[in-house]
Amino acid sequence: MKDLFDRIKDDKGPLGNWSKQAEGYFIFPKLEGNISNRMIFNGKKVITWSINDYLGLANHPEVIKADGEAAMEYGMAYPMGARMMSGHTKFHEQLEQECAEFVDKDAAYLVNFGYQGMVSAIDALVTKNDVIVYDMDTHACIIDGVRLHAGKRFVYRHNDIESFKKNLKRATKIAEQTGGGILVISEGVFGMRGEQGRLAEIIALKEKYNFRLLVDDAHGFGTLGEGGRGTGFEQGVQDGIDVYFATFAKSMAGIGAFFAGDKDVIQFLQYNMRSQMFAKSLPMAMVKGALKRLDMIRTMPELKDKLWKITNSLQKGLRDAGFDLGTTKTCITPVFLKGEIPEAMAMVHDLRENHGIFCSIVVYPVIPKGLIILRLIPTATHVQEDIDETIAAFSEIRTKLENGTYKRIGATMV
Ligand SMILES: Cc1ncc(COP(=O)(O)O)c(C=O)c1O
Repeated sequence: MKDLFDRIKDDKGPLGNWSKQAEGYFIFPKLEGNISNRMIFNGKKVITWSINDYLGLANHPEVIKADGEAAMEYGMAYPMGARMMSGHTKFHEQLEQECAEFVDKDAAYLVNFGYQGMVSAIDALVTKNDVIVYDMDTHACIIDGVRLHAGKRFVYRHNDIESFKKNLKRATKIAEQTGGGILVISEGVFGMRGEQGRLAEIIALKEKYNFRLLVDDAHGFGTLGEGGRGTGFEQGVQDGIDVYFATFAKSMAGIGAFFAGDKDVIQFLQYNMRSQMFAKSLPMAMVKGALKRLDMIRTMPELKDKLWKITNSLQKGLRDAGFDLGTTKTCITPVFLKGEIPEAMAMVHDLRENHGIFCSIVVYPVIPKGLIILRLIPTATHVQEDIDETIAAFSEIRTKLENGTYKRIGATMV
Protein backbone atom coordinates (compact mmCIF):
# COMPACT_ATOMS: atom_id res chain seq x y z
CA MET A 1 0.00 0.00 0.00
CA LYS A 2 1.11 3.54 -0.77
CA ASP A 3 1.09 6.57 1.44
CA LEU A 4 -1.59 8.82 -0.02
CA PHE A 5 0.88 11.64 -0.50
CA ASP A 6 3.44 9.59 -2.48
CA ARG A 7 1.55 10.30 -5.67
CA ILE A 8 1.30 13.98 -4.86
CA LYS A 9 5.06 14.21 -4.38
CA ASP A 10 5.78 12.30 -7.61
CA ASP A 11 3.20 13.97 -9.81
CA LYS A 12 2.09 17.51 -9.08
CA GLY A 13 -0.50 17.53 -11.86
CA PRO A 14 -0.44 18.96 -15.39
CA LEU A 15 0.20 22.54 -14.22
CA GLY A 16 1.95 21.78 -10.95
CA ASN A 17 4.65 19.87 -12.81
CA TRP A 18 5.73 23.24 -14.28
CA SER A 19 5.91 24.95 -10.89
CA LYS A 20 9.73 24.96 -10.70
CA GLN A 21 10.12 26.83 -13.98
CA ALA A 22 6.94 28.87 -13.90
CA GLU A 23 5.81 29.74 -10.37
CA GLY A 24 5.61 33.44 -9.60
CA TYR A 25 6.13 34.38 -13.22
CA PHE A 26 3.90 32.42 -15.61
CA ILE A 27 1.82 30.78 -12.89
CA PHE A 28 0.69 32.79 -9.83
CA PRO A 29 2.20 36.05 -11.17
CA LYS A 30 1.62 39.19 -9.08
CA LEU A 31 0.13 42.21 -10.83
CA GLU A 32 0.39 45.23 -8.58
CA GLY A 33 -1.08 48.73 -8.48
CA ASN A 34 -4.58 49.92 -9.29
CA ILE A 35 -6.50 47.69 -11.67
CA SER A 36 -6.15 49.48 -15.01
CA ASN A 37 -4.65 49.30 -18.49
CA ARG A 38 -1.12 49.66 -17.05
CA MET A 39 -0.03 47.89 -13.87
CA ILE A 40 3.23 46.77 -12.29
CA PHE A 41 4.67 43.32 -12.88
CA ASN A 42 8.07 42.22 -11.64
CA GLY A 43 8.90 45.84 -10.75
CA LYS A 44 8.07 47.22 -14.21
CA LYS A 45 5.04 48.93 -15.73
CA VAL A 46 3.23 46.69 -18.20
CA ILE A 47 0.18 47.05 -20.42
CA THR A 48 -2.32 44.63 -18.89
CA TRP A 49 -4.35 42.58 -21.35
CA SER A 50 -5.24 39.80 -18.96
CA ILE A 51 -7.95 41.23 -16.72
CA ASN A 52 -11.67 40.69 -17.36
CA ASP A 53 -12.56 44.15 -16.14
CA TYR A 54 -14.34 44.69 -19.46
CA LEU A 55 -16.16 47.90 -18.58
CA GLY A 56 -13.40 49.41 -16.46
CA LEU A 57 -15.52 49.35 -13.31
CA ALA A 58 -12.91 47.76 -11.04
CA ASN A 59 -11.20 51.01 -10.23
CA HIS A 60 -13.98 53.45 -11.02
CA PRO A 61 -14.20 56.08 -8.25
CA GLU A 62 -17.97 55.60 -7.85
CA VAL A 63 -17.52 51.85 -7.44
CA ILE A 64 -14.71 52.25 -4.94
CA LYS A 65 -16.88 54.72 -2.99
CA ALA A 66 -19.90 52.39 -2.96
CA ASP A 67 -17.78 49.40 -1.89
CA GLY A 68 -16.07 51.45 0.82
CA GLU A 69 -19.30 52.89 2.19
CA ALA A 70 -20.96 49.47 2.34
CA ALA A 71 -17.92 47.98 4.08
CA MET A 72 -17.90 50.87 6.59
CA GLU A 73 -21.59 50.44 7.32
CA TYR A 74 -21.82 46.65 7.48
CA GLY A 75 -18.24 45.34 7.80
CA MET A 76 -17.40 42.25 5.76
CA ALA A 77 -19.29 39.79 7.95
CA TYR A 78 -22.94 40.80 7.71
CA PRO A 79 -25.13 38.85 7.17
CA MET A 80 -24.00 35.72 9.00
CA GLY A 81 -25.19 32.28 8.02
CA ALA A 82 -26.65 30.73 4.89
CA ARG A 83 -29.46 32.56 3.11
CA MET A 84 -32.00 29.93 4.17
CA MET A 85 -31.15 30.15 7.86
CA SER A 86 -30.08 33.67 8.87
CA GLY A 87 -28.14 35.22 5.99
CA HIS A 88 -31.02 36.73 4.04
CA THR A 89 -31.56 40.51 3.57
CA LYS A 90 -33.77 42.82 1.57
CA PHE A 91 -30.69 43.94 -0.38
CA HIS A 92 -29.99 40.39 -1.57
CA GLU A 93 -33.60 40.31 -2.77
CA GLN A 94 -33.28 43.72 -4.41
CA LEU A 95 -30.16 42.65 -6.29
CA GLU A 96 -31.90 39.48 -7.44
CA GLN A 97 -34.87 41.42 -8.69
CA GLU A 98 -32.69 43.93 -10.52
CA CYS A 99 -30.58 41.19 -12.12
CA ALA A 100 -33.74 39.40 -13.26
CA GLU A 101 -35.20 42.57 -14.76
CA PHE A 102 -31.93 43.39 -16.48
CA VAL A 103 -31.80 40.06 -18.31
CA ASP A 104 -35.58 40.00 -18.84
CA LYS A 105 -36.39 36.98 -16.72
CA ASP A 106 -39.02 36.46 -14.01
CA ALA A 107 -36.67 35.83 -11.12
CA ALA A 108 -33.02 35.44 -10.17
CA TYR A 109 -31.01 33.79 -7.41
CA LEU A 110 -27.60 34.94 -6.19
CA VAL A 111 -24.67 32.58 -5.67
CA ASN A 112 -21.39 33.36 -3.96
CA PHE A 113 -19.12 32.11 -6.73
CA GLY A 114 -20.04 31.39 -10.30
CA TYR A 115 -17.94 28.24 -10.38
CA GLN A 116 -19.53 26.63 -7.34
CA GLY A 117 -22.95 27.89 -8.28
CA MET A 118 -22.80 26.31 -11.71
CA VAL A 119 -21.61 22.95 -10.36
CA SER A 120 -24.42 22.99 -7.87
CA ALA A 121 -27.14 24.21 -10.26
CA ILE A 122 -26.40 21.38 -12.69
CA ASP A 123 -26.46 18.95 -9.79
CA ALA A 124 -29.85 20.29 -8.71
CA LEU A 125 -31.47 20.47 -12.15
CA VAL A 126 -31.00 16.85 -13.19
CA THR A 127 -31.70 13.44 -11.72
CA LYS A 128 -30.35 10.09 -12.90
CA ASN A 129 -33.20 9.74 -15.40
CA ASP A 130 -32.33 13.01 -17.12
CA VAL A 131 -29.77 13.43 -19.87
CA ILE A 132 -27.24 16.25 -20.30
CA VAL A 133 -26.01 17.41 -23.70
CA TYR A 134 -23.15 19.93 -23.54
CA ASP A 135 -20.49 21.63 -25.64
CA MET A 136 -17.04 20.09 -25.52
CA ASP A 137 -15.28 23.41 -24.84
CA THR A 138 -17.33 24.55 -21.88
CA HIS A 139 -15.79 26.01 -18.75
CA ALA A 140 -14.53 23.76 -15.94
CA CYS A 141 -17.54 24.66 -13.78
CA ILE A 142 -19.84 23.02 -16.33
CA ILE A 143 -17.58 20.01 -16.80
CA ASP A 144 -17.44 19.56 -13.03
CA GLY A 145 -21.20 19.96 -12.66
CA VAL A 146 -21.72 17.31 -15.33
CA ARG A 147 -19.32 15.02 -13.42
CA LEU A 148 -21.79 14.95 -10.53
CA HIS A 149 -24.57 13.76 -12.81
CA ALA A 150 -25.57 10.15 -12.16
CA GLY A 151 -27.35 9.72 -15.50
CA LYS A 152 -26.29 9.78 -19.15
CA ARG A 153 -24.45 12.70 -20.73
CA PHE A 154 -23.46 13.44 -24.31
CA VAL A 155 -20.82 15.92 -25.36
CA TYR A 156 -20.98 17.54 -28.79
CA ARG A 157 -18.12 18.96 -30.83
CA HIS A 158 -17.52 22.60 -30.02
CA ASN A 159 -20.17 24.85 -31.58
CA ASP A 160 -20.91 22.14 -34.16
CA ILE A 161 -24.65 22.06 -34.79
CA GLU A 162 -24.56 18.77 -36.72
CA SER A 163 -22.77 17.11 -33.81
CA PHE A 164 -25.22 18.79 -31.42
CA LYS A 165 -28.20 17.39 -33.34
CA LYS A 166 -26.69 13.91 -33.41
CA ASN A 167 -26.22 13.94 -29.66
CA LEU A 168 -29.61 15.48 -29.04
CA LYS A 169 -31.18 12.59 -30.96
CA ARG A 170 -29.26 10.10 -28.82
CA ALA A 171 -30.29 11.95 -25.67
CA THR A 172 -33.93 11.96 -26.77
CA LYS A 173 -33.88 8.19 -27.23
CA ILE A 174 -32.48 7.66 -23.74
CA ALA A 175 -34.84 10.15 -22.12
CA GLU A 176 -37.79 8.43 -23.77
CA GLN A 177 -36.66 5.16 -22.16
CA THR A 178 -35.97 6.60 -18.69
CA GLY A 179 -38.89 8.99 -18.64
CA GLY A 180 -36.49 11.88 -17.90
CA GLY A 181 -35.81 15.20 -19.57
CA ILE A 182 -32.87 16.80 -21.38
CA LEU A 183 -30.65 19.66 -20.18
CA VAL A 184 -28.54 21.33 -22.89
CA ILE A 185 -25.63 23.48 -21.70
CA SER A 186 -23.67 26.02 -23.72
CA GLU A 187 -21.73 29.15 -23.04
CA GLY A 188 -22.89 32.48 -24.40
CA VAL A 189 -19.27 33.37 -25.09
CA PHE A 190 -16.49 30.81 -25.03
CA GLY A 191 -13.82 32.34 -22.87
CA MET A 192 -10.73 30.89 -24.48
CA ARG A 193 -11.28 31.60 -28.17
CA GLY A 194 -14.01 34.22 -27.96
CA GLU A 195 -16.63 32.60 -30.19
CA GLN A 196 -20.27 33.13 -29.34
CA GLY A 197 -22.23 29.99 -28.58
CA ARG A 198 -24.63 29.17 -31.42
CA LEU A 199 -27.61 29.87 -29.22
CA ALA A 200 -30.03 30.88 -31.96
CA GLU A 201 -29.46 27.61 -33.83
CA ILE A 202 -29.67 25.55 -30.65
CA ILE A 203 -32.90 27.27 -29.62
CA ALA A 204 -34.40 26.82 -33.10
CA LEU A 205 -34.15 23.05 -32.50
CA LYS A 206 -36.60 23.35 -29.61
CA GLU A 207 -39.32 23.17 -32.26
CA LYS A 208 -38.31 19.61 -33.03
CA TYR A 209 -36.82 18.36 -29.74
CA ASN A 210 -37.85 18.68 -26.14
CA PHE A 211 -35.03 20.13 -24.03
CA ARG A 212 -34.21 22.94 -21.63
CA LEU A 213 -31.25 25.27 -22.20
CA LEU A 214 -28.80 26.51 -19.56
CA VAL A 215 -26.41 29.23 -20.76
CA ASP A 216 -23.25 30.35 -18.97
CA ASP A 217 -22.89 33.95 -20.10
CA ALA A 218 -19.94 34.92 -17.92
CA HIS A 219 -18.26 36.82 -20.76
CA GLY A 220 -21.38 38.02 -22.59
CA PHE A 221 -22.99 39.79 -19.63
CA GLY A 222 -22.10 43.49 -19.83
CA THR A 223 -20.29 43.18 -23.16
CA LEU A 224 -22.87 41.96 -25.68
CA GLY A 225 -26.45 42.75 -26.60
CA GLU A 226 -28.48 45.89 -26.16
CA GLY A 227 -27.34 47.66 -22.98
CA GLY A 228 -24.92 44.83 -22.21
CA ARG A 229 -27.76 42.40 -21.43
CA GLY A 230 -25.81 39.49 -22.81
CA THR A 231 -25.50 37.03 -25.66
CA GLY A 232 -29.19 36.09 -25.67
CA PHE A 233 -30.04 39.70 -26.50
CA GLU A 234 -27.17 39.93 -28.99
CA GLN A 235 -28.68 37.01 -30.91
CA GLY A 236 -32.30 38.00 -30.24
CA VAL A 237 -33.09 34.74 -28.43
CA GLN A 238 -33.12 35.60 -24.73
CA ASP A 239 -36.60 34.05 -24.38
CA GLY A 240 -35.28 30.68 -25.51
CA ILE A 241 -32.74 30.50 -22.67
CA ASP A 242 -34.43 28.65 -19.83
CA VAL A 243 -31.73 29.19 -17.21
CA TYR A 244 -29.45 32.17 -17.70
CA PHE A 245 -26.21 32.46 -15.70
CA ALA A 246 -23.77 35.34 -15.33
CA THR A 247 -20.94 35.97 -12.91
CA PHE A 248 -20.06 39.30 -11.29
CA ALA A 249 -16.37 38.43 -11.67
CA LYS A 250 -15.97 39.97 -15.12
CA SER A 251 -17.96 42.98 -16.42
CA MET A 252 -19.21 43.67 -12.88
CA ALA A 253 -15.65 43.61 -11.50
CA GLY A 254 -16.84 42.07 -8.26
CA ILE A 255 -17.57 38.67 -6.85
CA GLY A 256 -20.74 36.59 -6.87
CA ALA A 257 -22.98 35.43 -9.69
CA PHE A 258 -26.64 34.77 -10.44
CA PHE A 259 -29.05 32.42 -12.19
CA ALA A 260 -32.19 33.81 -13.81
CA GLY A 261 -35.27 32.14 -15.26
CA ASP A 262 -38.92 31.38 -14.58
CA LYS A 263 -40.07 31.85 -10.99
CA ASP A 264 -40.71 28.16 -10.29
CA VAL A 265 -37.28 27.14 -11.65
CA ILE A 266 -35.49 29.79 -9.60
CA GLN A 267 -37.45 28.83 -6.50
CA PHE A 268 -36.43 25.22 -7.09
CA LEU A 269 -32.77 26.31 -7.24
CA GLN A 270 -33.17 28.32 -4.02
CA TYR A 271 -34.37 25.22 -2.22
CA ASN A 272 -32.05 22.67 -3.83
CA MET A 273 -28.68 24.22 -4.67
CA ARG A 274 -26.34 22.72 -2.14
CA SER A 275 -23.55 25.29 -2.74
CA GLN A 276 -25.86 27.99 -1.36
CA MET A 277 -27.90 25.98 1.14
CA PHE A 278 -24.76 25.00 3.01
CA ALA A 279 -22.63 28.14 2.60
CA LYS A 280 -22.54 31.59 4.13
CA SER A 281 -24.44 34.32 2.32
CA LEU A 282 -22.74 36.87 0.04
CA PRO A 283 -21.53 39.74 2.31
CA MET A 284 -23.34 43.04 2.15
CA ALA A 285 -20.40 44.99 0.70
CA MET A 286 -20.51 42.64 -2.30
CA VAL A 287 -24.27 42.95 -2.61
CA LYS A 288 -24.38 46.73 -2.34
CA GLY A 289 -21.31 46.98 -4.57
CA ALA A 290 -23.06 44.83 -7.18
CA LEU A 291 -26.18 47.01 -7.04
CA LYS A 292 -24.01 50.04 -7.78
CA ARG A 293 -22.22 48.31 -10.65
CA LEU A 294 -25.46 47.11 -12.22
CA ASP A 295 -26.84 50.63 -12.00
CA MET A 296 -23.76 51.94 -13.78
CA ILE A 297 -24.02 49.33 -16.54
CA ARG A 298 -27.67 50.35 -17.02
CA THR A 299 -27.10 54.10 -16.99
CA MET A 300 -23.66 54.48 -18.58
CA PRO A 301 -23.81 52.93 -22.07
CA GLU A 302 -20.64 54.83 -22.89
CA LEU A 303 -18.67 52.17 -20.95
CA LYS A 304 -19.70 49.42 -23.37
CA ASP A 305 -19.22 51.76 -26.34
CA LYS A 306 -15.66 52.47 -25.20
CA LEU A 307 -14.97 48.77 -24.70
CA TRP A 308 -16.08 48.02 -28.27
CA LYS A 309 -14.16 50.96 -29.75
CA ILE A 310 -10.98 49.54 -28.18
CA THR A 311 -11.90 45.96 -29.11
CA ASN A 312 -12.56 46.81 -32.76
CA SER A 313 -9.38 48.82 -33.05
CA LEU A 314 -7.28 46.09 -31.43
CA GLN A 315 -8.76 43.28 -33.52
CA LYS A 316 -8.57 45.24 -36.78
CA GLY A 317 -4.97 46.29 -36.06
CA LEU A 318 -3.88 42.73 -35.31
CA ARG A 319 -5.69 41.31 -38.35
CA ASP A 320 -4.20 44.02 -40.60
CA ALA A 321 -0.78 43.05 -39.25
CA GLY A 322 -1.46 39.48 -40.41
CA PHE A 323 -2.33 37.81 -37.12
CA ASP A 324 -4.79 34.93 -36.92
CA LEU A 325 -7.55 35.76 -34.41
CA GLY A 326 -9.71 32.75 -35.27
CA THR A 327 -13.43 33.43 -35.39
CA THR A 328 -13.88 35.65 -32.34
CA LYS A 329 -17.06 37.70 -32.43
CA THR A 330 -16.61 39.07 -28.94
CA CYS A 331 -14.13 41.20 -27.00
CA ILE A 332 -11.97 38.18 -26.24
CA THR A 333 -9.02 38.44 -28.60
CA PRO A 334 -7.00 35.25 -29.08
CA VAL A 335 -3.84 35.48 -31.15
CA PHE A 336 -3.07 32.03 -32.56
CA LEU A 337 0.61 31.16 -33.00
CA LYS A 338 2.52 27.93 -33.50
CA GLY A 339 5.16 26.64 -31.12
CA GLU A 340 5.94 24.39 -28.19
CA ILE A 341 5.68 25.24 -24.48
CA PRO A 342 9.36 26.28 -24.00
CA GLU A 343 9.12 28.66 -26.97
CA ALA A 344 5.90 30.08 -25.57
CA MET A 345 7.63 30.70 -22.24
CA ALA A 346 10.58 32.48 -23.89
CA MET A 347 8.22 34.57 -26.00
CA VAL A 348 6.04 35.65 -23.10
CA HIS A 349 9.14 36.45 -21.05
CA ASP A 350 10.35 38.70 -23.89
CA LEU A 351 6.92 40.34 -24.14
CA ARG A 352 6.80 41.08 -20.45
CA GLU A 353 10.42 42.10 -19.84
CA ASN A 354 11.37 43.87 -23.07
CA HIS A 355 8.08 45.12 -24.45
CA GLY A 356 6.13 45.75 -21.24
CA ILE A 357 3.14 43.67 -22.29
CA PHE A 358 1.29 41.31 -19.98
CA CYS A 359 -1.21 38.94 -21.54
CA SER A 360 -2.37 35.43 -20.78
CA ILE A 361 -0.76 32.50 -22.51
CA VAL A 362 -2.66 29.33 -23.29
CA VAL A 363 -0.83 26.11 -24.23
CA TYR A 364 -1.25 22.34 -24.12
CA PRO A 365 -3.16 20.64 -22.41
CA VAL A 366 -5.79 23.40 -22.63
CA ILE A 367 -5.33 23.53 -26.43
CA PRO A 368 -3.69 20.99 -28.79
CA LYS A 369 0.10 20.46 -28.71
CA GLY A 370 2.04 22.85 -30.97
CA LEU A 371 -0.47 25.69 -30.64
CA ILE A 372 0.00 28.82 -28.56
CA ILE A 373 -2.72 31.34 -27.85
CA LEU A 374 -1.80 34.77 -26.55
CA ARG A 375 -5.12 35.92 -25.16
CA LEU A 376 -5.88 39.63 -24.95
CA ILE A 377 -8.80 41.09 -23.01
CA PRO A 378 -9.50 44.67 -24.05
CA THR A 379 -11.29 46.90 -21.56
CA ALA A 380 -12.85 50.34 -21.43
CA THR A 381 -9.69 51.60 -19.68
CA HIS A 382 -7.36 50.85 -22.60
CA VAL A 383 -6.28 53.60 -25.00
CA GLN A 384 -5.07 53.58 -28.61
CA GLU A 385 -1.45 53.93 -27.50
CA ASP A 386 -1.73 50.56 -25.72
CA ILE A 387 -2.93 48.99 -28.95
CA ASP A 388 -0.21 50.56 -31.11
CA GLU A 389 2.56 49.45 -28.72
CA THR A 390 1.10 45.96 -28.51
CA ILE A 391 0.81 45.43 -32.26
CA ALA A 392 4.38 46.66 -32.81
CA ALA A 393 5.62 44.28 -30.10
CA PHE A 394 3.59 41.35 -31.45
CA SER A 395 5.09 41.87 -34.90
CA GLU A 396 8.60 41.69 -33.42
CA ILE A 397 7.95 38.59 -31.36
CA ARG A 398 6.35 36.82 -34.33
CA THR A 399 9.59 37.33 -36.32
CA LYS A 400 11.62 35.85 -33.46
CA LEU A 401 9.21 32.94 -33.08
CA GLU A 402 9.49 32.18 -36.77
CA ASN A 403 13.27 32.49 -36.96
CA GLY A 404 13.84 30.08 -34.06
CA THR A 405 15.13 32.62 -31.51
CA TYR A 406 12.66 31.48 -28.86
CA LYS A 407 13.36 27.81 -29.52
CA ARG A 408 17.00 28.39 -28.50
CA ILE A 409 16.15 30.55 -25.45
CA GLY A 410 13.25 28.28 -24.43
CA ALA A 411 15.52 25.23 -24.33
CA THR A 412 17.52 26.91 -21.53
CA MET A 413 14.40 27.76 -19.54
CA VAL A 414 13.06 24.25 -18.97
C1 LIG B 1 -17.34 30.86 -18.51
C2 LIG B 1 -17.16 30.99 -17.02
N1 LIG B 1 -18.06 30.45 -16.20
C3 LIG B 1 -17.93 30.54 -14.87
C4 LIG B 1 -16.86 31.17 -14.29
C5 LIG B 1 -16.74 31.16 -12.80
O1 LIG B 1 -17.18 32.35 -12.25
P1 LIG B 1 -16.66 32.84 -10.80
O2 LIG B 1 -15.34 33.50 -11.01
O3 LIG B 1 -17.75 33.76 -10.35
O4 LIG B 1 -16.53 31.64 -9.94
C6 LIG B 1 -15.88 31.74 -15.12
C7 LIG B 1 -14.70 32.42 -14.58
O5 LIG B 1 -14.63 33.20 -13.75
C8 LIG B 1 -16.04 31.66 -16.52
O6 LIG B 1 -15.14 32.17 -17.35
